[in-house]
Amino acid sequence: MSQKKRTLLVTSALPYANGPIHLGHLVEYIQTDIWVRFQKLRGHDCVYVCADDAHGTPIMLRAEQDGITPEQLIAAVGAEHQADFSDFHIEFDNYYSTHSPENRELSELIYRRHLDAGHITSRTITQAYDPVKEMFLPDRFIKGECPRCGAADQHGDSCEACGATYTPTELKNPVSVVSGTTPVERESLHYFFKLADFEPLLRDWTSGDHVQDEVTNKLNEWFEQGLREWDISRDAPYFGFRIPDTTDKYFYVWLDAPIGYMASFRNLCERTGRDFDAYWGRDSEAELYHFIGKDIIYFHALFWPAMLAGAGMRTPTAVFAHGFLTVDGQKMSKSRGTFIKARTYLDHLNPEYLRYYFAAKLGSGIDDLDLNLEDFVQRVNSDLVGKVVNIASRCAGFINKRFGGELSATCAEPELYAEFADAGTAIAADFEAREYGHAVRKIMALADRANQYIDANKPWVLAKQAGQEQTVQEVCSVGLNLFRVLATYLAPVLPAMAREVESFLNVPVMSWDDVATPLTAHTINPFKPLLTRVEQEKVDAMLEDSKHSLGNTDSGEQPASGPLQGDPIAETISFDDFARLDLRIARIAKAEHVEGADKLLRLTLDLGGETRNVFAGIKSAYTPESLEGRLTVMVANLAPRKMRFGISEGMVLAAGPGGEDLWILHPDDGARPGMRVK
Ligand code: MSP
Ligand code: ZN
Repeated sequence: MSQKKRTLLVTSALPYANGPIHLGHLVEYIQTDIWVRFQKLRGHDCVYVCADDAHGTPIMLRAEQDGITPEQLIAAVGAEHQADFSDFHIEFDNYYSTHSPENRELSELIYRRHLDAGHITSRTITQAYDPVKEMFLPDRFIKGECPRCGAADQHGDSCEACGATYTPTELKNPVSVVSGTTPVERESLHYFFKLADFEPLLRDWTSGDHVQDEVTNKLNEWFEQGLREWDISRDAPYFGFRIPDTTDKYFYVWLDAPIGYMASFRNLCERTGRDFDAYWGRDSEAELYHFIGKDIIYFHALFWPAMLAGAGMRTPTAVFAHGFLTVDGQKMSKSRGTFIKARTYLDHLNPEYLRYYFAAKLGSGIDDLDLNLEDFVQRVNSDLVGKVVNIASRCAGFINKRFGGELSATCAEPELYAEFADAGTAIAADFEAREYGHAVRKIMALADRANQYIDANKPWVLAKQAGQEQTVQEVCSVGLNLFRVLATYLAPVLPAMAREVESFLNVPVMSWDDVATPLTAHTINPFKPLLTRVEQEKVDAMLEDSKHSLGNTDSGEQPASGPLQGDPIAETISFDDFARLDLRIARIAKAEHVEGADKLLRLTLDLGGETRNVFAGIKSAYTPESLEGRLTVMVANLAPRKMRFGISEGMVLAAGPGGEDLWILHPDDGARPGMRVK
């Protein structure tokens, strides 16, 4: 089975440092981690690096909104990401940040090499600019009405209602998501990467074995459309690296992000003394693999090889793209509770269940993958608990109690054992080809065989018969040896269980080739349950939790939703939670329409001396005129929220199902602005 020892460097895409890791991300990190663990188990020299993707406008704005520096934000989010990964047993050899000295140096180096070779050009372009915030606006920070169908509240690049794509300048009544003002057009000098210079190289690279077939087709479409120049600069204010020899231009986040792979690896070299150039030099013999989602193929299969080649470096051995996660057949959704954060999952369920489920469903292609929660429970329970762990629990007791933990001196079923050991070749080929689903199917077929063997030999019956002592020991020893083979094949998927199996079977750290010989005359340790059943209640609790953890997770933009949007009745809160609410009577001093908002009114609230600006979603029930002078109850200690139209400094309470049926307080003799509500 032993082959030439390979040298591999593997990466997963770098998660953005402004939001939590969710189950969608985990498809990728689990897929990669399984592959890396498999390579290591096979005895190869495999290194797995990653980092947080720390630059860009959304991160800058998110930090500002949270009242912290970008550096503070990325440090906090980076720590959360690493805790999530580690708790899912995703084991990086190095986890770093793109906001690092190594990355700055390498980004500048690669840029300068391209500049010197004539692959960078510059020209003035016109872009949307927010005159209040004094910044250029990326497309997603502009909203307005769709130029085709008129749908309100559409992003600057495409319409969710009719699917039209357009440029932000085509939007009707555009507003800046950052300040709520109307953007203006402004000119600025930008730097471009001349991707077309690399067309022959890219055509050659992408037609080789470097990408999946489906991806080659996609790339051919892009070649036919023509390779356009890539805008690699952004104007200040921007959180990123300043472009050398400029005062106010920054590298676009996607320029330094892939270089972040290299920078993380360089940081590892500094720690461990590995030879950086042996991996990244033009003549490197190391294999380089990037695991990515299908949404970022353009960056990895076109820009990235071109950036590398043009800088005199090696190109990737392969880019492996995967599909997107859906939950119960639909896009992850906050209201259904299926936008599940890694941490929320971990609060309720064992990470190895998910690793197993994803493995069972993953193939080498770019199809989307569905987490069907009913299937999840059923599959984990029947395969892992019912089949695999069951083999060990059926055999271990007899060996421990009757034979002092000692396995029989010879393997009583050499042919059956050989069948299991030989299956390793095909299973390894599946793992190598990222056909984890096929590998899992083969492993479960073997688990069925092992259980059939135990069923046929019935050690629990033999144990009651005189003179069958040795047979009981032999049958149970065969069972445990078969179990060991399966645990080894599953070790890339279930690393924590593998560690427990090592201690139960009293063997050193597993390697793939160890299964060639069975354990004989070997003493094992007492058996402890290796994995318990998934309980449906835990899954339900996780979904419930997900519904309520409505943190701001992605864009640095707060939803401009009204107070009553048919939310389910919330779970109970403690008295302490209640006591923390500062509820006050407020007088609505002024109420105004908000340009571009269908539901919101801007209220100026008088709290008896102090005034607050609050956006309230009550336009469906009240005209501004009818509100002025009336009293309402407000949450006075709600943290200020940046909404599309400005800062909201509190929340107004109203009763009713919504729409026109929404009521606030009437003027009342007793109530006075500023009064506490108890
Ligand atoms: N920061 C960029 C990647 C830079 S790599 C030089 C980015 N970050 S991300 O946080 O949005 O996504 C990280 C990875 O997770 C990407 O490969 C992305 O495709 C993947 N996924 C994000 N959501 C996903 C699903 N719902 N399903 C499967 N993969 C998903 O893109
Ligand atoms: Zn539209």
